[in-house]
Amino acid sequence: MIMRPLHSLDHVRKSFNGSTSRSVRSEIGQFLTPAVTAQFMSSMFESGPQHVRILDPGAGAGVLFAMCVETLISQKNRPLSIKVDAYETDDAILPHLEETMKRCQSLCTSGGIAFQGIVKNEDFVSVTIAEKREPLFALPIERFTHAILNPPYMKINSQTAMSRDLYSSDIEVANLYAVFVWLSMLLLEPGGQMVAITPRSFCNGPYFKKFRVAFLRTMSLKQIHIFGSRKKAFGDDDVLQENIIYHAIRGLLQKPKSVTISTSEGLDFGEARILSVPYSRVVHPGDRDMFIHLDVDDADTSPAERIKCFTSSLNKLGLTVSTGRVVDFRSREHLRQAPEQETVPLIYPCHFLNGFIEWPVESGKKPNAIMSSYKTSGLLVEAGFYVLTKRFSAKEQLRRIMAAVYDPTRIDACLVGFENHLNYFHKQESGLPADLAKGLALYLNSTIVDQYFRLFSGHTQVNATDLRKMPYPTHEQLIRIGTHLKERMPDQETIDAIIEKECLNCGQ
Ligand SMILES: C[S@@+](CC[C@H](N)C(=O)[O-])C[C@H]1O[C@@H](n2cnc3c(N)ncnc32)[C@H](O)[C@@H]1O
Repeated sequence: MIMRPLHSLDHVRKSFNGSTSRSVRSEIGQFLTPAVTAQFMSSMFESGPQHVRILDPGAGAGVLFAMCVETLISQKNRPLSIKVDAYETDDAILPHLEETMKRCQSLCTSGGIAFQGIVKNEDFVSVTIAEKREPLFALPIERFTHAILNPPYMKINSQTAMSRDLYSSDIEVANLYAVFVWLSMLLLEPGGQMVAITPRSFCNGPYFKKFRVAFLRTMSLKQIHIFGSRKKAFGDDDVLQENIIYHAIRGLLQKPKSVTISTSEGLDFGEARILSVPYSRVVHPGDRDMFIHLDVDDADTSPAERIKCFTSSLNKLGLTVSTGRVVDFRSREHLRQAPEQETVPLIYPCHFLNGFIEWPVESGKKPNAIMSSYKTSGLLVEAGFYVLTKRFSAKEQLRRIMAAVYDPTRIDACLVGFENHLNYFHKQESGLPADLAKGLALYLNSTIVDQYFRLFSGHTQVNATDLRKMPYPTHEQLIRIGTHLKERMPDQETIDAIIEKECLNCGQ
């Protein structure tokens, strides 16, 4: 039986959380990993070298490296020596970190394993970037065999010295967590392994593309763990964030054939559902954006498989999707609460009703109109049938993609402005044929599209780039689907039945 003497580290986490303010912890991105998660993460490492060097950047109270040490020494193939480098900048948590290091020391000593633990009260990012600049970094210095991390999450202010330093090191990324993963990856020796728990927002979208590409070129994914619930990954710490855990190995010549995808609702890792998915289904060969698809269904029922019956694309359809051009806070002087002479409709998400745009909305907080003048002409488009989708939606919502038709026969205007919280589908900046627009809106509102979208979307945004990557029905199929949309969007069951029928038809 495996002894778990370090499980009591959960008490440290609870008492530290109890004695510090959540808002202060939130400011420095300090959400400590529950011991059971740390244990699960450690179990992902493949048994490795005899001389282990572990990196834990942003170590907090040290639960991650401690569980890693504990797992390593309880294996049959125990290492001969373990070295740990733990970086941490928060003085308040340092005594706990020192204490954890001592406990690892005595655990190893009593097991006859040489141990060296170094607590580095330093900023991991600036230290590593400075090292990276040294010519020494290029030489074979002692790198890490293991990196285990739960890095701080926070946006990087582009005006800071850190942002400039990162930029000059060719590390361009929007959030600190990705910087930690990126730098840790560079500090691994070839064949070195990483296990990290981070938001899944890097799996798609333009903001993380550079990071994603660098990561997937350098590392080979072995396992990804998904949480069914957004709230449960950090147990009682009330973190509302879609997190994943991943295990990857630096520099395998060939990518593995498959990736293990495991799923648990929360911390019930023992109950996890485990699937082996071809690597090419997780990262599609030839995809320049290198989206990471988290397909958790069996091959026959998987949305990625089922949606293959739709073989067209926006390009083939001659359509484009763009983000609404009116950024309201930049155009304030041109906006009007109610329509006036010389104004045209301004459309926000609040104008969505039953699958169409309902305009104006008198009770709403948002302006209904924008002045039409030479100053705003670049923000407006000609009236026509457009399909609009909301740009922000949360995982808990019934559907992530919510589409509605802008029907020019319902709104008396020859120009229209779409606000920046919307994406709009158009044909070279003009409207679409009516039935095509209706078919497209109905398709986008279907469950199959929602399920497919959730496979790769890891944040609350529905970007135009994401929509460009979706498969679409052909022109004829969209026209046929469109004939089902009359005065209002049908209920979900009816939408799905219409789309299912089209899908079955194309197999014949
Ligand atoms: C999300 S917490 C995770 C702590 C610990 N790894 C765990 O899993 O419980 C991230 C930690 O990184 C620390 N941190 C933030 N910025 C840092 C930096 N630039 N260098 C080193 N540590 C940092 C925070 O103080 C915090 O303790």
